[in-house]
Amino acid sequence: MSKKTIAVLTSGGDAPGMNAAIRAVVRTGISFGMRVLGVHRGYNGLLNKDVQEMDLRSVSDIIHHGGTMLFTARSPEFNTPEGVKKAADHCRELGIDGVVVIGGDGSFRGARDLTGAGIPCIGVPGTIDNDIASSEYTIGFDTAMNTAVEMVDRLRDTTESHDRCSVVEVMGRRCGDLALQTGIAVGATSILVPEVPFDFQRDIIERMRFTQKTGKKHFIIVVAEGVGGVADLAKEIEKQTGIETRATVLGHVQRGGSPSLRDRVAGSAMGYYATKLLKDGKSNRVVVMQGGKITDFDITEALNMKRTFDKDLYDIAHVVSI
Ligand code: F6P
Repeated sequence: MSKKTIAVLTSGGDAPGMNAAIRAVVRTGISFGMRVLGVHRGYNGLLNKDVQEMDLRSVSDIIHHGGTMLFTARSPEFNTPEGVKKAADHCRELGIDGVVVIGGDGSFRGARDLTGAGIPCIGVPGTIDNDIASSEYTIGFDTAMNTAVEMVDRLRDTTESHDRCSVVEVMGRRCGDLALQTGIAVGATSILVPEVPFDFQRDIIERMRFTQKTGKKHFIIVVAEGVGGVADLAKEIEKQTGIETRATVLGHVQRGGSPSLRDRVAGSAMGYYATKLLKDGKSNRVVVMQGGKITDFDITEALNMKRTFDKDLYDIAHVVSI
């Protein structure tokens, strides 16, 4: 019997810790006696047959680097029935028996479709957004939070020196987790997230006025990307309070940088687990973290789960960041 061949790809936005997951898939696969292929630029690599043969040394010196050594992409062509069929046909031509897909929900929908076309896939959650309902943790989230905190700490120095207000947008797509955690860690006067409706007067202006009376002279307002509009918010805050206000969008800087310990460990463990699932003949599964432990769900079931937002933590922020 010929060696089982598996492939690994990263898809969607890159996230720190993806390299640790790739490394784990490659080394675990080899330890199981498998041949491992690295696919370049997400599903595009399957459409273009752009793959590289991996060995133990091809993943050396990557665990501490952000980004993804396999590159990544969002692939409009793959998102069509024809694209999925072409990718599956190419997998068969390349002798690929299974694929580990590291990415977010969009990547998992691709993994489900590719499984449907006859190529067993396993998803690994990799995104800075922490927005995958089935998993309480996604690779990259910890590093991105720490980067955002470092950046807002820098902003705070200048905000404080000028007695100003800074309105800062952090990433997260439609998920407020990055904003909530960052907001708590930097002591933001207000945190705006898409999961909780806000009232401009009550949640920003009145809180600023209240803290001003207690002696506070500078303010940080953290706004999730899913709420947006930081430039307009800044203008309105300045107009209503008379406090000079600046808007900052942190942007893609949050996606880069050396992965934190947590992301290196989560990437390594999840990559191992995904490869073991393929070895055991499993298919259409997503590796998740539940109660701090790694387990797996059916991808379709996972995609239908509803995300829960940590409202208790949000309420705590309201009390302690004042
Ligand atoms: O999903 C990760 C993420 O960084 C989101 O936080 C953000 O909304 C999006 O990707 C940005 O995408 P792009 O890199 O295509 O601009």
